[in-house]
Amino acid sequence: MIISAIACISTNGGLGKNNDLLGYIPEDLKFFKKQTLEKAIFMGSKTAKSLPQGNPLPKRNNYVLCRKDEQSYFSEKGFLTIVADSVSDAIEQLSLMNEDEVVIIGGSFVYEQALSLIDTLYLNVGHDLPEDADCFFCNVRSVKSIGEMPGMNIVAYHEEKTKSSGMLSFYKLERITDATAI
Ligand SMILES: NC(=O)c1ccc[n+]([C@@H]2O[C@H](COP(=O)([O-])OP(=O)(O)OC[C@H]3O[C@@H](n4cnc5c(N)ncnc54)[C@H](OP(=O)(O)O)[C@@H]3O)[C@@H](O)[C@H]2O)c1
Repeated sequence: MIISAIACISTNGGLGKNNDLLGYIPEDLKFFKKQTLEKAIFMGSKTAKSLPQGNPLPKRNNYVLCRKDEQSYFSEKGFLTIVADSVSDAIEQLSLMNEDEVVIIGGSFVYEQALSLIDTLYLNVGHDLPEDADCFFCNVRSVKSIGEMPGMNIVAYHEEKTKSSGMLSFYKLERITDATAI
């Protein structure tokens, strides 16, 4: 199973505030949809609750890591629940579910715990997003530190001017394997 992750951060690595995104950038949401549609997505319980109306995203298998006492709440909403001791245990369980690829969609806790397992990371930077986040993407605290993520290389980059939210940078990172290490 391929393990990917996708996130949109501010220039200081911020992910969200008060259990919501820092901003909604239509061009980023379009990219998110393209990368996740018809795939399995995996998220933490707080991210699941932050989705519109707290509902699973359509046309995707929505897996949520949750506590046992929240399992029926999420199941009734239509999520596929995973109860596990840790994020890595949850991904281990997911690998038995016959999914070709899972895309990790957050939040901060899940990205951090899963970082060493991620094969491909799609990281967008919204240059006009506010910098007063209360949760961050792993150790990223500047645009420069994206290139210093342990065990990962930037393999593609482009940027575009959005209609109403300033510049949006698109980074694609891949895990360095024996075959790709110099
Ligand atoms: N910018 C982006 O691309 C992006 C994407 C996704 C999310 N976000 C933002 O990220 C923030 C949410 O991130 P977060 O780190 O607070 O939450 P999260 O990663 O979605 O969920 C983490 C929570 O899962 C629970 N948990 C931890 N270990 C667990 C286990 N073994 N089994 C079951 N549950 C476990 C804990 O809550 P309990 O201890 O309470 O159970 C923990 O606080 C929001 O602001 C959201 O908007 C941003």
